[in-house]
Amino acid sequence: MDKFRITGGRALSGRVSISGAKNSALPCMAAALLSAETVTLHNLPYVRDIITQRRLLEDLGATVLTPELRTHKISASHIELFEAPYELVRTMRASVLVLGPLLSRFGKAKVSLPGGCAIGTRPIDLHLVAFEKLGAEVKLEGGNVIARAPNGGRLVGGEIQFDKVTVTGTENVMMAATLARGVTVLQNAACEPEITDLAELLNKMGARVRGAGTSRIEIEGVEELGSAQHTIIPDRIETGTFIAAAAITQGDLEIKDCQPLHLAAVIDKFRQVGVSIEEINPSTLRVSCPKKLTAKDVTTQPHPQFPTDMQAQYMALMTQAEGKAVIEETVFENRFMHASELQRMGARISIDGRHASVTGPTPLTGAPLIASDLRASASLVLAGLVAKGETIIDRVYHIDRGYEKIEAKLRNVGADIERIRESVTASLPHVPQPGMAAEV
Ligand code: UD1
Repeated sequence: MDKFRITGGRALSGRVSISGAKNSALPCMAAALLSAETVTLHNLPYVRDIITQRRLLEDLGATVLTPELRTHKISASHIELFEAPYELVRTMRASVLVLGPLLSRFGKAKVSLPGGCAIGTRPIDLHLVAFEKLGAEVKLEGGNVIARAPNGGRLVGGEIQFDKVTVTGTENVMMAATLARGVTVLQNAACEPEITDLAELLNKMGARVRGAGTSRIEIEGVEELGSAQHTIIPDRIETGTFIAAAAITQGDLEIKDCQPLHLAAVIDKFRQVGVSIEEINPSTLRVSCPKKLTAKDVTTQPHPQFPTDMQAQYMALMTQAEGKAVIEETVFENRFMHASELQRMGARISIDGRHASVTGPTPLTGAPLIASDLRASASLVLAGLVAKGETIIDRVYHIDRGYEKIEAKLRNVGADIERIRESVTASLPHVPQPGMAAEV
């Protein structure tokens, strides 16, 4: 398994470019299953989850051409298999996103039920209840979800009230409803920018989706969907992570190819803490840290509030801020795995249920660490950048799932970070590693 070696203490300076959003690319790739015609996606990030999703589509029978590294031309004209197997779902939960499109276009789908993961129990019950509301028959058998449209035909539009805001749940059901007979209304839908991006792609394919980006989405079913070209939005979490990297190292970074509007709550919080964030143009931020950081509390919540996917990175930053910050995690029940690793570097953090209190500033010292999930890994990298001495982070396959070449991007702006390759086979895509947790 690959590791990162980081020697901390260097202020980052220079320019970094943000990649496409993994969490938008994954549902958009699944959406290609809704059409017999080609869907071309640009600006896909070059990360492991995208390779996994591509493999899943190909296993189902789709053809995926890559004329350029970040462009996929997906043709799902011939689908032979209607199943996302356990081996894939356990390594990437987002593979459940094929359920809605397969069920809607072909009237049947089988997806292994994802189990719990590093950050919580993560059920998909809300997806399944919603499919039932659209007329599907849903059975659980041998650890799999088996769903069928009524009489093997089409789903039927309906009114769905999500009990809890769910991002992939909203995406899955929104995709399913595009080919259902009649109108579907989703209430308490997720409002994340990735939902809006997916809706835009679906509408380009000929769907009729209105209200994406609000908590009420209306979808008028159509007979079939066609071809489309779409460019994936910039990754707002990668953007936030680089803002945190500039801030924690007291550096000065220009972050380009991003969409600041998608992370307004994050930018607002960082500014309260004392980070200077200037919008040079609509897709470029300049981040510097002219003064001492001041601890501020934060609560994670669904968009447009502060995202849970930035909580771990914010915790790393708070170890360097003056005072005490209380971080409340309301989205996932067990998402403080990084705290104990940060404590090993000297951070003063106490956990009480869904609350973590961080008292700073604390000089961190390098240590051997283990990454537990995607965003936790990012927080450990941030801590390593500011720690005295050498930090070795093990299991960086987690970070490879969602950050494109993070070590190269950081090195380009002055960080002392390198990848230690343990073995060639361990770093190949698709090889599930022992103890590899299915997650985000
Ligand atoms: C997505 C993101 C992930 C992010 C999360 C919350 C992708 C691929 N992943 O994950 O990066 O951290 O949103 O912003 O886009 N829940 C249920 N039943 C369900 C579905 C969800 O109880 O059927 C619960 C979950 O356990 C969790 C909460 O709802 O506590 C939110 O989960 P959800 O928004 O569904 O997260 P994901 O879509 O899996």
